[in-house]
Amino acid sequence: MGQQEWQGIILNQRLKNRENYMQGPKSSPKQWQTYVLLFKRFLAGKKNPRILVLGSTPELRDLALSYPDAELIAVDSNAEMVEKMTALMEHKNSEREKFINADWLNMPLPENSVDLIVGDGAVANLAAESFDDFFAQCRKILKPDGAIILRENVRIKEYVWSVTEIVAKSRQENWHWFDLYSYSYVSSTGEWFDEKTSQVNMEKYFTWVKQAYQDGLLNEEEFSHLWPWHGNLIHTFLKESEFLALFSKYFQSLPVCQPDDLRYHKFSYFFAGQPKV
Ligand SMILES: C[S@@+](CC[C@H](N)C(=O)[O-])C[C@H]1O[C@@H](n2cnc3c(N)ncnc32)[C@H](O)[C@@H]1O
Repeated sequence: MGQQEWQGIILNQRLKNRENYMQGPKSSPKQWQTYVLLFKRFLAGKKNPRILVLGSTPELRDLALSYPDAELIAVDSNAEMVEKMTALMEHKNSEREKFINADWLNMPLPENSVDLIVGDGAVANLAAESFDDFFAQCRKILKPDGAIILRENVRIKEYVWSVTEIVAKSRQENWHWFDLYSYSYVSSTGEWFDEKTSQVNMEKYFTWVKQAYQDGLLNEEEFSHLWPWHGNLIHTFLKESEFLALFSKYFQSLPVCQPDDLRYHKFSYFFAGQPKV
């Protein structure tokens, strides 16, 4: 699920103007600060750390390589994505980076071999029934004193609203467009969310976006911000308690000061942890 869809429009949108957005595809300033601080916290005192990035996010790969003695492993099932994202990097084609073209459910990496695993919206690309296997594998790959950092969207009851409410709030409170996108896509009662699988279907969401624009529920400006993101990804967004319960089976979850520079951070969390023994 997910990996084949990361191409075409979706790939191009994520390549374009990463610096020009306040959010998406790049992290917000405070999210970025959180990654930087967590890297510092978990890599303190480590010599020649091995860092595994789930996917090809160029900023995260650059952050890993900014540690002069670090070795980076990027695992992505879509080689085109990695190649195109590499072009955006500061440390392009570093000798210290190794790319593995593989699925995260089957990473050819030895046990106890990695100091830090990091992902940005990675786990959401897996089906809920694979989360267990995925976390188990990450724990196996991590050294006992290693750590994992994941930023993931979760569903929190008090922030799950109908799209009509979301559009009304976004106008009354003058939301950033990425908040409108995030709330309506991730945290709404829209029919694109399937309760049984906890999956959001982007194709169904964008069918709504188009229709809502034609029906006058979304205005020209709102439509012009949302539409470029259309695609056919399917993402899994568990309830926070469900995500944490699975994560905590394999990792000792550690407190993180959550970024709050955008409204949608209320349901977009950093999860950090160390392998449970
Ligand atoms: C980590 S995610 C999130 C996007 C990212 N934060 C950005 O900056 O745009 C996207 C990447 O995950 C990869 N991917 C999705 N599912 C995967 C899987 N099961 N195994 C390996 N790679 C996968 C996709 O090919 C894509 O390159």
